[in-house]
Amino acid sequence: MKATAIASPNIALIKYWGKADDKLNIPLNNSISMTLNELKTTTTVEFSDKYSKDSLILNKKEATDLERVQRILNEVRRIAKIKESAKVVSENNFPTGAGLASSSSGFSALALAASKAAGLDLSKKELSILARMGSGSACRSVYGGFVEWIADKTSDGSYATQLAKPDYWDVRMLVAIIKEEEKEVSSTAGHALAKNNPFLETRLKIVDKYLKDVRNGIKEKDFTKVGKAAEFDCISMHATMMTSVPMLLYWTTGTVRIIHAINKWRNEGLETYFTIDAGPNVKVLCKPKDSKEVQKRLMEIKGVKNVIENKPGEDARIVESHLF
Ligand code: DP6
Repeated sequence: MKATAIASPNIALIKYWGKADDKLNIPLNNSISMTLNELKTTTTVEFSDKYSKDSLILNKKEATDLERVQRILNEVRRIAKIKESAKVVSENNFPTGAGLASSSSGFSALALAASKAAGLDLSKKELSILARMGSGSACRSVYGGFVEWIADKTSDGSYATQLAKPDYWDVRMLVAIIKEEEKEVSSTAGHALAKNNPFLETRLKIVDKYLKDVRNGIKEKDFTKVGKAAEFDCISMHATMMTSVPMLLYWTTGTVRIIHAINKWRNEGLETYFTIDAGPNVKVLCKPKDSKEVQKRLMEIKGVKNVIENKPGEDARIVESHLF
């Protein structure tokens, strides 16, 4: 009753911000993402009666807060009709909790590994719903390539579907790391602050147009269409964050430096677009032919510690070698 899964984080081109249901992680709007190929979470789960309670070792440290992990483990035990406790060991090959979407890959890998370890063979749709219960954005990491999460009002209807496979369109997402430490306000706490914010209402009124642009832009491989819509949607989400009470400001000086640089490069003819999540790090969308030049320029910006180049990544998958 042991299984290991690998999943990659995804970065939203159209963001999930604000929940219709806080417990079930049902979003207020559809979102669209790209799965990243270089960043990975590996998770091994074992259910056994030799364990007296559930445990989690994340990046070699014993975790004390198991609430979200147990949402998934409990759901798996319920479906599989088993009672055993589980040992979960999980490792990221990138900084955790720093706005690099570690919860998306983490809960997607956990959903897949736990369900397999319990002897279940869930469909992608069922896996997506299960992963969503741990963290909303994780439902998108069940798939590689480009993915849309349907908001819906019910738990059974709120899951991700694949818009395009990883090799359909080669674009690059450069992750510019400014800060590797864990963020002070989690995205879960941020979602709650979005409630009753009049700017969120405006964002939700206009988001459909941008969803359509990104959806069609991916289909048509139209870099400008996708980039413009994604950048606008990111700004619209951060405007909502900044106008929350208390204010939620994830940007640092380094973040703003990159935003200015991207605007300047674009005006000079180097076409790149930015997107930012619940943290200061910036993800930069560029064409494959420009990737080396953009990486070089990003590394020259004060405060940028590292740049990781990503292509569209693969689906979450089972692997044979275990972490314990
Ligand atoms: C800004 O999925 O981390 O990255 O459902 O509470 O776990 P929970 O939130 P989470 O929120 C992600 C927010 C975002 C945008 C996005 O990924 O769509």
